[in-house]
Amino acid sequence: MQINNTNTEVSRILKVGQKARKLQAETMKPFLMLHRGVNAVVNIDLNSVVNQFDFNTEDFQVYPGTAGKDKLRSAIADEYFLGKANPENLLITPGGISGLDITIQNLTTKTIALPHFFWGSYAQLANLRKVKVNTYPSLQSLIKYPHKYTNQLVVICDPGNPLGEKQPDEDIYNAIGRLEQENINVLVDSPYRRIFTDTKDDFHARLLEYSNVIIVDSFSKSVGLSGQRIGFLYAKDELFIKEAKQRLLYATNGVNAFAQELIYALLTTTEGKQAVTDFKKKTASNIAKNIDFLINNNLLSTEFYKNSKPLGIFACINKSEDELLKNNISSVSMSYFTLETEKYKNHSRICVSVPHEDFVKYMNLMV
Ligand SMILES: Cc1ncc(COP(=O)(O)O)c(C=O)c1O
Repeated sequence: MQINNTNTEVSRILKVGQKARKLQAETMKPFLMLHRGVNAVVNIDLNSVVNQFDFNTEDFQVYPGTAGKDKLRSAIADEYFLGKANPENLLITPGGISGLDITIQNLTTKTIALPHFFWGSYAQLANLRKVKVNTYPSLQSLIKYPHKYTNQLVVICDPGNPLGEKQPDEDIYNAIGRLEQENINVLVDSPYRRIFTDTKDDFHARLLEYSNVIIVDSFSKSVGLSGQRIGFLYAKDELFIKEAKQRLLYATNGVNAFAQELIYALLTTTEGKQAVTDFKKKTASNIAKNIDFLINNNLLSTEFYKNSKPLGIFACINKSEDELLKNNISSVSMSYFTLETEKYKNHSRICVSVPHEDFVKYMNLMV
């Protein structure tokens, strides 16, 4: 067959996982799996929510519509945007990754500007769609030299992946405002933020002030439902949404109706809201304790957090992937998250969203 080969690679995260699981089977010793980007402190308790569903209805059994269910788009407008977003500018996507891919395809921009340390899949997606990758050193550099990113799509991810760093919100707004003055588009992809915030957070609503912003968000991290493959995409630009909707139609025919009903119930019912609150509370408190443990035991790579605070769900540890693996901990080398692959190989990204007791048990071996 004549294949349109893009040489896009399998994520390093998947490869590390395969290696750790193989070692686990061979040595018959359990590993602490910290290479993944999932919340693993607790599961969200869905039983009370699902018990109320009537599955024998069109709501569950028939095409949900390309843009997503109207009631879910309205609920997202209310819950994330303080009721200020027009639901017509929102699309339900099968996870954040689909929103990212649609955005890259939709814009004519041929270069994407990523943070200095970036999630490797951004670069792989760019490669798949034949878009070049550039990086920017910091939000401050976007504020000072926005024109350097002319004709590029700037990506902001906060708290970040791989560092889990939280930058001041005002810096984010300033950077977006400066880029808007230069007609530069910004993709805000911050799926980790909502674990630590709730409906009172005005971040999404504040972003509505800028015409150059595209928002990609996901329920994979904020409510721990990566298995349901659901997220959303927002843009003020009507043509952007119209084209994005066509891409969604021909790639998906709409997002799984069950996932949409589930998220709708989590956002709007008393039981759903309680389940989300409990999940976030336990998750955030274990993450905070794990980060404190790293700090108190000099394991955090502090040089990466000079203008920011480590918040989670990831943190960077000053040990190599191999050192950690020898101690039955899977992680991902920082070389995977930067264009300077050699420079940071003695540091690794770990997921800190695991039960504190397990974390301490394994990490004590590294102290
Ligand atoms: C920064 C970032 N954006 C987007 C995603 C996409 O997640 P999903 O497609 O599960 O929503 C991830 C997943 O790891 C991520 O880390």
